[in-house]
Amino acid sequence: MLDFTDQVVLITGAASGFGAMLAAQFSERGAKLVLGDIDEEGLAEVAAQLPGDSVTLRCDVTQEADCAALAQAADELFGGLNIAINNAGFGHPLGSIEQLDEAAYDTMFAVHGKGVALGMKHQLPLLKRGGGVIINVSSMAGIGGAPMLGAYSAAKHAIVGLTKTAAVEYASDKIRVNAVCPFFTLTPLVTDSGIFDKVEAMVKRSPLRRLAETEEVTSAILLLCSPANSYMTGQAIAIDGGISAF
Ligand SMILES: NC(=O)c1ccc[n+]([C@@H]2O[C@H](COP(=O)([O-])OP(=O)(O)OC[C@H]3O[C@@H](n4cnc5c(N)ncnc54)[C@H](O)[C@@H]3O)[C@@H](O)[C@H]2O)c1
Repeated sequence: MLDFTDQVVLITGAASGFGAMLAAQFSERGAKLVLGDIDEEGLAEVAAQLPGDSVTLRCDVTQEADCAALAQAADELFGGLNIAINNAGFGHPLGSIEQLDEAAYDTMFAVHGKGVALGMKHQLPLLKRGGGVIINVSSMAGIGGAPMLGAYSAAKHAIVGLTKTAAVEYASDKIRVNAVCPFFTLTPLVTDSGIFDKVEAMVKRSPLRRLAETEEVTSAILLLCSPANSYMTGQAIAIDGGISAF
């Protein structure tokens, strides 16, 4: 079920965290990878560990030319695209709605909202050729409020709106589009942000009473990409240890 032999998989934000783990898991399962990130050094380190074919490109998802070039690389080097994972993202310092400055909103929406939109814009023409899958990485903050993370939450909600819209617009092209909404996971995005104390208190109240391993989140993404998962589209799927269940 999780065999991705010769599938061409594009991943943004692939230099770290979920993106790097996804690259490893897809590569182990036979996929050919097109990896983009603003962190070129990190990308090279990830690619050096992969067992299968891959290409890396500096890609800032806020720049349309970069999004176009990443999709074009899939077409030129591997002959098309089967799966796209729009994963690039980052957080912002904790602050109430009154405390957040305009720049925080602009950067959050540029990377998460515009970045996913531009990514899909250039991935869809390739996916339309034979059908395929898009996964957009939103967050628990994309399906509920996130105190002190207002700009992040708003931008992650935008991803869910884009996902549902694309799912409806492109269903007849046999393209499934879903968003994933993970709870906090100890990737550099969280460990480098100084919010871990707050996270710990939430974890104690969660049904599974622990954070996910990075691999638990990315394994769920692989399941969603599987051809066996052929009827699920337009969903925002929580990967959250049960937190959203109550
Ligand atoms: N870790 C969590 O707790 C968590 C929870 C929910 C959602 N997410 C989301 O998961 C995704 C991956 O995050 P992660 O936890 O692996 O963090 P991470 O910091 O380990 O990785 C994020 C990657 O995105 C890249 N990136 C940032 N801005 C970019 C841009 N403009 N263009 C291209 N690449 C860019 C970074 O360089 C980095 O390599 C993000 O969208 C994040 O919001 C993370």
